[in-house]
Amino acid sequence: MKGNFTYCNPTRLHFGEDAMNYLVQELKAFGPVVMLSYGGGSIKKNGIYDAVAAALKEAGKTVVEDSGVMPNPTYEKVLEGCRKVRDNKVDLILAVGGGSTIDYAKAVSASAYCQEDPWQKYWVNQESPACKTIPVGTVLTMVGTGSEMNGGSVITNRKEGFKRGKVFGTELFPTFTILNPRFTMTVPQYQMVAGFFDIMSHLMEQYFAGTADCTTDYINEGLMRSLIHSSRIAAKNPQDYEARANIMWTATWALNTLLKMGKGGDWEVHQLGHAIGLVTDATHGMTLACVSLPYYRRVMHDGLHQFVRFAVNVWGVRPDGKSDEQVATEGLACLEAWMKEIGVVMHSRELGVTEENLQQVADAVLILPVGYRTLTRDEVVEILRESM
Ligand code: NZQ
Ligand code: ZN
Repeated sequence: MKGNFTYCNPTRLHFGEDAMNYLVQELKAFGPVVMLSYGGGSIKKNGIYDAVAAALKEAGKTVVEDSGVMPNPTYEKVLEGCRKVRDNKVDLILAVGGGSTIDYAKAVSASAYCQEDPWQKYWVNQESPACKTIPVGTVLTMVGTGSEMNGGSVITNRKEGFKRGKVFGTELFPTFTILNPRFTMTVPQYQMVAGFFDIMSHLMEQYFAGTADCTTDYINEGLMRSLIHSSRIAAKNPQDYEARANIMWTATWALNTLLKMGKGGDWEVHQLGHAIGLVTDATHGMTLACVSLPYYRRVMHDGLHQFVRFAVNVWGVRPDGKSDEQVATEGLACLEAWMKEIGVVMHSRELGVTEENLQQVADAVLILPVGYRTLTRDEVVEILRESM
C-alpha cells in the first residue's frame, strides 16, 4: 500500500429479508416531516410503497410526497425537490428506489438551502456544501450504483449539456440504508443486467489504476469473482435469492469508497458512458458496457501488468508459455464472453448513438488525466466509433 488515507463510512446498513423491520426505529431519530422521494411508480406496483408508508405512519411522520424522479435525474427535477424541501421544512429525505432516486435525494439535500448556484458550485466547481443539508435515508430497490452507501450524485443538466457526477463527503452519505434483496426481484431483466455491468465497471474503474501491490486489489478481485459467479446464475434465474443477495452486497462494496483506498482510479469509461447517457438518455449500465471493450483494448498496453493480473486472478487464464499481451488479451476476451452471456448491450448504436450525434457525444466527454493513459479528443471519437 502506498500513500495516506482516512477511511470512514458512516452509513448504517440493514441487510436481508427482514431489513424493513428497522425502518421505524431509524425514522424515529429524525424530525416530524419526511419527504418520500421515488421514481416512476414501480414501488406502487410491487408493494414497497405500502410497506414504507406503513412504517412512516407507525413512526408518526408527516409525509411530503415527491414522485417522478426519472432515470438519469435532471437538474430541473432537483430544483423542484429543493422548493418542496423549503416549503415544507423537511427533516429527512427518504429515497425509495435505485441510484437515480438516491442521487437526486443527495442533490436536493445539498442544494435546498444553498446560497449560490448549486450546479456551478457542486457539479462544475466540485465544491463542498457550506449550507444546512438534509439527512437522507434510503430503501434500495435496484442494485448497481452503490449510491446507497456513498456520496455520489450524478445529475443531468441538458441546458448546460452535461451529465456530471459530484462525489460529496461523508456528510451527504445516506444515514441509513435498507437492503432487502427481495425488493429487487421485480426489476426488469434489462435493468437488472445493466446493474450487473455497472457493478463490474465500478470494480474495473478502480482496479485499472496504479502499479503498487495493494491489498485493495485483492479485495476487488474477490468481489469481481463473486459478481461473475452470481450474475451467471441470476441472468438465467432472476428469482435465485442467494445470487441476487450476493450481488446486492457486492454492489454496495464495489462503490462505497473502500476500493479506492491506496489506489485512486480511472473512471474514463464512466465519462464516456455519461456522455452517451446525456445525448440518448440510455440506461447507465448499458452505456458503460458498449464502450468498455474499445476503451480497455486501447489502454491495455499502458497498464499491461494489471491486465495480466486481471486475466489470471479474475478469469483464471493460464499464463504458461504465453506473452503478457496474449494473457491480457485473453482476459478481455473472457470479459467479452461474460458480457454476452449475461446479455448486456454491446453496441452503442442500439442505444441511439449515430454518425450524426457522435461529435455531440464526444463534446460531452470529460477527459480525466488519470488511469493508465489520458485520452486525446481524437481517441475519444475513435472509441465511440468502435463502440457503435
Ligand atoms: O422509476 P421507477 O418506477 O422506480 O423504475 C425504475 C427505473 O425505471 C426501475 N426500478 C427500480 N427498482 C425497481 C424498478 N422496477 C421494478 N422493480 C423494482 N424494484 O429501474 C429503472 C432504473 O432505475 P434507476 O434508479 O435509474 O437505476 P440505477 O440504480 O442504475 O441508477 C442510475 C443512475 O445512477 C447514476 C447513473 O449515472 C444514473 O443516473 N450513478 C450513480 C452513482 C453513484 N451515486 O455513485 C455511480 C454510478 O456510476 C452511476 O453513475
Ligand atoms: Zn456506474
